Amino acid sequence: MAKHNLHRLLIALLHLSIFLSLNSSSSSGAIIGGVLNSPSFATSQTKSQWERANNAAYESLSRAQSINSFQTAISTHISSYTISLDFGTPPQPITFLLDLGTSQTWFPCTNDYNCSGCHLESKNPAFITTFIPTQSTSAKDLDCKNQLCQQFHEDDSDFACDNDSQVCPYQFHYVTGSTSGFFLSETLHFDEINIPNVIVGCSIESSGVSTGIGYVAFGREPTSLPSQLGVKMFSYCLVAHKFSDTPKTSPFTLVLEGVGVNNSNSDSGISYTPFVDSPARFPTFYYVTVTKITVGDVDVQVPSQYLVPGPDGNGGTVIEPGTTFTVMDAEVHQLVLTEYEKQMGQYYRRVGDLDLGNQVNFTCYNFSGQNPGNFPALSFYFEGGGKMEFPMTDNFEPYSDVVCLTLLSAKALGVQSGPSITLGNYQQQNIYMEFDLENQRLGFKEQIC
Ligand SMILES: *[C@@H]1O[C@H](CO)[C@@H](O)[C@H](O)[C@H]1NC(C)=O
Ligand SMILES: *[C@@H]1O[C@H](CO)[C@@H](O)[C@H](O)[C@H]1NC(C)=O
Ligand SMILES: *[C@@H]1O[C@H](CO)[C@@H](O)[C@H](O)[C@H]1NC(C)=O
Ligand SMILES: *[C@@H]1O[C@H](CO)[C@@H](O)[C@H](O)[C@H]1NC(C)=O
Ligand SMILES: *[C@@H]1O[C@H](CO)[C@@H](O)[C@H](O)[C@H]1NC(C)=O
Repeated sequence: MAKHNLHRLLIALLHLSIFLSLNSSSSSGAIIGGVLNSPSFATSQTKSQWERANNAAYESLSRAQSINSFQTAISTHISSYTISLDFGTPPQPITFLLDLGTSQTWFPCTNDYNCSGCHLESKNPAFITTFIPTQSTSAKDLDCKNQLCQQFHEDDSDFACDNDSQVCPYQFHYVTGSTSGFFLSETLHFDEINIPNVIVGCSIESSGVSTGIGYVAFGREPTSLPSQLGVKMFSYCLVAHKFSDTPKTSPFTLVLEGVGVNNSNSDSGISYTPFVDSPARFPTFYYVTVTKITVGDVDVQVPSQYLVPGPDGNGGTVIEPGTTFTVMDAEVHQLVLTEYEKQMGQYYRRVGDLDLGNQVNFTCYNFSGQNPGNFPALSFYFEGGGKMEFPMTDNFEPYSDVVCLTLLSAKALGVQSGPSITLGNYQQQNIYMEFDLENQRLGFKEQIC
């Protein structure tokens, strides 16, 4: 019976992959865009001294005291996920890519916004929601003399202030591009609650940043949106995107300052694992400790230096819905693939690595005429005892009569250092994820989102 279901699932997926091949140029661009454009691999950022600053943004906390929780929708966006937030007075709804790997939020801004080399630009520019500061009575420029200017700034001498009367400029760098503009202080609306003085980047120019829409930065640094708002907890459950152009949604919940997180979750089936302190080089990532990886019933013997971040910042596991496929250190990737080959090689023929364009190869098996019931499960075991068994469809993407493992090697992407495992959104589909910032832990459970 289970095999039947899997078969039906695969057939359903095959229809989608036909869609993929019909749109191969834009789709593979989007897939790879999602992988490579992840700001997770953003260049090093200056560590902020936000905590020491006695600043306006913290006023927002007292305003937010009475807020319990706020729910918005998280939508699929080709190979990524977006949420919409209302900025300005009157509110302007802006769509952002959700990113946990950065701590600076920005949106396309003004009628002059120009994104060159952005994937959907030519396809549907209307897709990009742009903020117009002149239509908001609450928009305030952040001056260079404001302390926050330096704190939100990346270390970028080309975009430093020349004098105090300038508006605070920025340029944020990502692996495939950058975005630049000026900081604004704006009001953010959650239903009837207005939170003033949220610092957000007003980008005038971007290049090579995915689809050209803004990033809402949910990283761990004090400049991130959760830090600015004093968020206690946020959670999501990603619906399967399957690279479709048609958005699908599920709830995205924020629990704001003033009300404790519900800690009586013992019966909810949620497993918890503590966040590990981020190494100094990657202060913005959410690190957790994977203690064991299994393929089928077999333990993959991953050397411990990969499982915990070292003093050099390398190693460990981060959770990143802003990345599409899970990326592993080359050695870890090889160990996992070798175990897959041992188990799948008995049933299916390995086909030469499928190059889906853009130099990224996936490991694939031909299951033509075979029972597709012998795809071993991938599981991560976490500190604290929880086990995350990835749903089958999170690990395999079928293309016609072959199925490809959706795990990528960091080396193949040209990433030389950093976390050993970046758990991307593809592997988080249909898993409820709760970022309990108050108790510094990740909660998770399998769920149809
Ligand atoms: C957008 O930016 C690119 C790169 O800087 C430039 O070549 C192009 O002329 C700009 N387009 C517009 C409409 O300003
Ligand atoms: C400060 O910068 C502004 C904007 O670039 C410029 O107009 C002004 O002349 C500068 N003032 C001084 C004293 O350099
Ligand atoms: C807390 O969570 C438990 C278990 O999910 C639920 O039964 C209870 O109603 C929740 N309490 C509040 C105040 O939300
Ligand atoms: C991807 O696979 C193709 C065909 O097997 C091969 O020629 C190419 O070198 C591979 N690329 C990488 C980055 O491994
Ligand atoms: C998969 O195997 C079938 C049957 O042997 C063959 O016809 C087909 O071309 C193969 N597909 C690929 C992509 O190798």
